[in-house]
Amino acid sequence: MAARSSSSSPRPYQLIVFGASGFTGRFVVEEVARSSAEVPGGKLTWAIAGRSRDKLEKVLQETADQLGKPELQSEVEIIVADVSEPDSLAAMCKLGQVILTCVGPYRFYGEPVVKACVENGAHCVDISGEPQFLESMQLNYDSAAADGGVYIVGSCGFDSIPADMGVLYTRDQFKGTLTAVESFLTASTGPEGGCIHDGTWQSAVYGMADSEKLKSLRKQLNPKPLPVIGAKIKRRSALFYSNEIQQYAVPFMGSDPSVVKRTQRFLSEEQQTPVQYGAYAGVGGISSVIKLLFAAFIFSLFVKFSFGRNLLIKFPEFFSFGYFSKKGPTRKQMEGSSFCFAFFGEGYTEGQDPSQGKPNAKIRTLVRGPEAGYVATPIAMVQAALTILSEPDALPKKGGVYTPGAVFAKTSLIERLDKHGIHFSVL
Ligand SMILES: NC(=O)c1ccc[n+]([C@@H]2O[C@H](COP(=O)([O-])OP(=O)(O)OC[C@H]3O[C@@H](n4cnc5c(N)ncnc54)[C@H](OP(=O)(O)O)[C@@H]3O)[C@@H](O)[C@H]2O)c1
Repeated sequence: MAARSSSSSPRPYQLIVFGASGFTGRFVVEEVARSSAEVPGGKLTWAIAGRSRDKLEKVLQETADQLGKPELQSEVEIIVADVSEPDSLAAMCKLGQVILTCVGPYRFYGEPVVKACVENGAHCVDISGEPQFLESMQLNYDSAAADGGVYIVGSCGFDSIPADMGVLYTRDQFKGTLTAVESFLTASTGPEGGCIHDGTWQSAVYGMADSEKLKSLRKQLNPKPLPVIGAKIKRRSALFYSNEIQQYAVPFMGSDPSVVKRTQRFLSEEQQTPVQYGAYAGVGGISSVIKLLFAAFIFSLFVKFSFGRNLLIKFPEFFSFGYFSKKGPTRKQMEGSSFCFAFFGEGYTEGQDPSQGKPNAKIRTLVRGPEAGYVATPIAMVQAALTILSEPDALPKKGGVYTPGAVFAKTSLIERLDKHGIHFSVL
């Protein structure tokens, strides 16, 4: 039986933002404060949590100043909890209906939070973009989460809500049976440029170093291959000129392919046609390609050895050509940045059999939004959490460890995101 969220729950907080003093956590706190009227009853009860009370008090004060909401300092509680102290996590989880955890890299700090949520009946959303963490949580906690009636939903940030919900949106807009989608991600910055905070760089460095373990994990998680319906999607090379987006493109290295595939597997088990998926990212013109190849070569070399990894961790700006930094982007840089996913789908019109012949129809859709890491990610994470709170009847009947697409397919998440500046459209 799923533990359904309800306003009569004895838990004092509907949401708790854990890791609220981190670079991303602070923006998640702001986003919760902005969206706090969007629950049934119109008044969210929430708290912020982390390992340092001083830092959390400062976060509340800065958020109150930034939003001109001095009442936050008296209305929002502070909870001290540390990943290395299980009792503190259990105590935090007993107080909240949904925990929004921003404590990463998740490979190091994610599992104790998932475990505490499952054991103490709290739902959990995270913004991990680490397939190994996400898939191992599914392997290890899915049945306990189902027994406890809690929803553990990973990758609720820019990784991988736009891609996962974008594929579902494309499927739902297609008149017939959609069988394959390719997505092309492009990101742009304003005159001030932009960058990504070090937390994500660390997740990428340690994730790459350990990527071999994913193969055996996947064998355990999915002993049977996902059925291929319709013409097989074409494989692209490691670098190619994309006519779709009129620039060079490479396979997208983040969690999107893993997350979308898990969603499609879930839907296939629900007797829906799984969509094949290929994810690519635009890199621009030839000078960007040369820079990228050089950075990728150094990264793949250094990531293999602990000495090299230490250097990568110590000097993110140097090794990423300034794309990642310990300071993270400024608000001005964030204001000038945006992302766009272009989805190119193909399938079979109504009455056509996908097991016979080539696809006979195409569709193009877009998902566009503001700066990915610290504007779109908090919006997506907070809307995911609010959806769990507000639309319990639209979630799967059983609790479990889910992808965003699997858990939110029947909810109004896309409309919610649209209202907050992450737009889905058909071209
Ligand atoms: N999906 C996406 O698109 C997306 C976007 C942005 C970020 N992220 C992910 O979010 C994660 C955080 O990134 P970030 O840049 O915000 O990193 P960060 O600034 O280093 O934040 C890490 C947070 O974890 C907390 N923490 C570390 N050890 C802890 C412990 N033992 N107990 C409790 N809290 C602990 C830190 O607390 P203190 O403040 O006390 O040090 C800090 O609040 C990363 O995994 C990143 O990849 C994902």
